[in-house]
Amino acid sequence: MKGIILSGGSATRLRPCTKITSKQLLPVYNRPMIYYPLNTLIKAGIKDILIIIAPERAGDYLNLLGSGKDFGAKFTYEVQDKPRGLADAFIIGENFIDEDNVTMILGDNIFEDDFSEDIKNFKSGGKVFAKKVSDPERFGVVKFDKNMKAEEIVEKPKEWLSDYAVTGLYIYDNRVVSAAKNVKPSDRGELEITDLHNWYLKKGELDVAIVSGEWIDAGTFDSLLRAQILAKEKLQEKLVI
Ligand code: TTP
Repeated sequence: MKGIILSGGSATRLRPCTKITSKQLLPVYNRPMIYYPLNTLIKAGIKDILIIIAPERAGDYLNLLGSGKDFGAKFTYEVQDKPRGLADAFIIGENFIDEDNVTMILGDNIFEDDFSEDIKNFKSGGKVFAKKVSDPERFGVVKFDKNMKAEEIVEKPKEWLSDYAVTGLYIYDNRVVSAAKNVKPSDRGELEITDLHNWYLKKGELDVAIVSGEWIDAGTFDSLLRAQILAKEKLQEKLVI
């Protein structure tokens, strides 16, 4: 299992703070934000990790994280020259992923739960994690049937579909690379990861699990504030880095 942290993007919602640094390097209590998703991967035993970054901030990431040796891991870096969307990570990461399976986590997603078992026990297909939220329209949204089997996933639905958002942690088998190459840009010009979820869902090979603990997408000032509190009150003893 390889790991990817997607840590580029433009972070317009956190301006002006992100005019001079990357969102994922901002402090979340006593660590840079990216330490939390990195912790999720390293705790699950993933040692080979690709960090995808925007060109302007590449040096800062190298200074902070280096080769990975200090974390007991090996870090590889790739630059995403433009934010083309989340599914672009699997195209950028093709050589890195090689013939392996891959777990991707977004650099601004902070989880209370430990996903070690899900990652270690993963065999094939795709596995994503959903969480009930009050603002589902910000995310990819999963509609479940009566038996909580995923029926449909829609990116930022305009009309209410369900309260379950797909969180920023995705486990895929190696076919994700070729599936990503076939994704066409959406109306907002991005390669949507929702298209990849649906590619697996249509084949009956997408497992959608529910996240029980807290999950924060720290991309707005309010969610960043909540992330600070979660980190201080609940995450400190769970961190291995
Ligand atoms: P978003 O929060 O959707 O986008 P953003 O970080 O550019 O912020 P804003 O909407 O405020 O402008 O991105 C989610 C995560 O994925 C975040 O960690 C940035 C990363 N990302 C990339 O690395 N490349 C991309 O092409 C996109 C769309 C996001």
